[in-house]
Amino acid sequence: MITTQFKQSESFIAREDRYGAHNYHPLPVVLERGSGVHVWDVEGNQYLDFLSAYSSVNQGHCHPRILRAMQEQAQKLTITSRAFYNDLLGAFTELLHGVFGYDKALPMNSGAEAVETAMKLCRKWAYRVKGIPEYQAKILFARGNFHGRTLSIVSASNDPTSRNGFGPFMPGIQQIPYNDAGALEKVLRTDPNIAAFIVEPIQGEAGVVVPNEAYLPTVASICKKYNVLFVADEIQTGLGRTGQLLATHMSGGDTKLRPDMIILGKALSGGFLPVSAVLADDEIMLTIKAGEHGSTFGGNPLACAVAMEALQVILDEALAQNAAQMGQVFRDGLETLASETPVIKQVRGKGLLNAIVIDSDEASPLAWNLCLKMRDNGLLAKPTHGNIIRLAPPLVINEAQIEEALHIIRRSLNDQTK
Ligand SMILES: Cc1ncc(COP(=O)(O)O)c(C=O)c1O
Repeated sequence: MITTQFKQSESFIAREDRYGAHNYHPLPVVLERGSGVHVWDVEGNQYLDFLSAYSSVNQGHCHPRILRAMQEQAQKLTITSRAFYNDLLGAFTELLHGVFGYDKALPMNSGAEAVETAMKLCRKWAYRVKGIPEYQAKILFARGNFHGRTLSIVSASNDPTSRNGFGPFMPGIQQIPYNDAGALEKVLRTDPNIAAFIVEPIQGEAGVVVPNEAYLPTVASICKKYNVLFVADEIQTGLGRTGQLLATHMSGGDTKLRPDMIILGKALSGGFLPVSAVLADDEIMLTIKAGEHGSTFGGNPLACAVAMEALQVILDEALAQNAAQMGQVFRDGLETLASETPVIKQVRGKGLLNAIVIDSDEASPLAWNLCLKMRDNGLLAKPTHGNIIRLAPPLVINEAQIEEALHIIRRSLNDQTK
């Protein structure tokens, strides 16, 4: 039990509130150190991290191999810009090709930038390859999506908190319901100007919404039938999180599904610095020519060194397999908890991307208060959409730590109902 009064934390929080923009509402805990599945606050209290920076630290906090790669490269060369070649971008993109099987990769930094990149590629492909009349191309998105915070991306969102006050929105975007392949086909049958469907294999921010088994394979075949790009945003679901290297891999039965484009971010650097990438074959990727898109930091040698090691750690430590196994143990435990308390309405997820739905409306403080109790008992998680608590630890977690987490959640539920 964490007994400290969070006195030091309070001054850090007050300072941040005073000088920083108020664009987040963090749980009141101030972290200063992390290792593996654990983080420590400024008072020295230890917590299990069950958010993993929204799946950025799949490899665990401050993984020693990634740290070493970063330190070694930081002493040699950090950035060249793309005005010159560097000696690591070729190796990084070759590794992405070898691991994921796409002809080429386009490196960026944040997830949102990679989504923007994918949208630009979709439009270029629509005009240069598909033959959609100039500037008539549309991109479909699923309702409930979260792909980032830029203006074009929030144009594709239906979340009022993301959108309100930020219009006018970008044209050429249309929404369809998630987990409804019929709705997709209905639009594609009647509208020849659809370039692409960009979709999360599991909707993370929406509260870990897992579609039916048949959804993604059906989406893939419908998109193929109408010559529309199927683009998977795997920024949160990818890199082992859901028990496979990519979440789309587990959706195709024996044969792995292969979207036309994959968007990666977050854990691509193991949480050390922002590294994202779009993967696609030449027919799509080579529609963007020199000078038409880029980023000063995208593909910098420091990012390449870190990302190569981060990806290699996921493979060497079989983190996807561990996510599948530990995820099953965790969900079984959560189901048991749910059967003991009316507070948990539903347990859902895949691998180590899971959530519990609290039986309250979105405006109720129940989930927030439960997260505060869990914090006091040594586990950090945060509600999404008010009444859903995402539970997504680093993929290096072991069974004893899973049991400890379940114990903390049970105890916090008991504390709350006292
Ligand atoms: C599926 C998905 N796409 C895109 C993003 C945006 O990534 P970033 O915050 O790095 O811009 C996120 C972030 O949570 C995400 O979950």
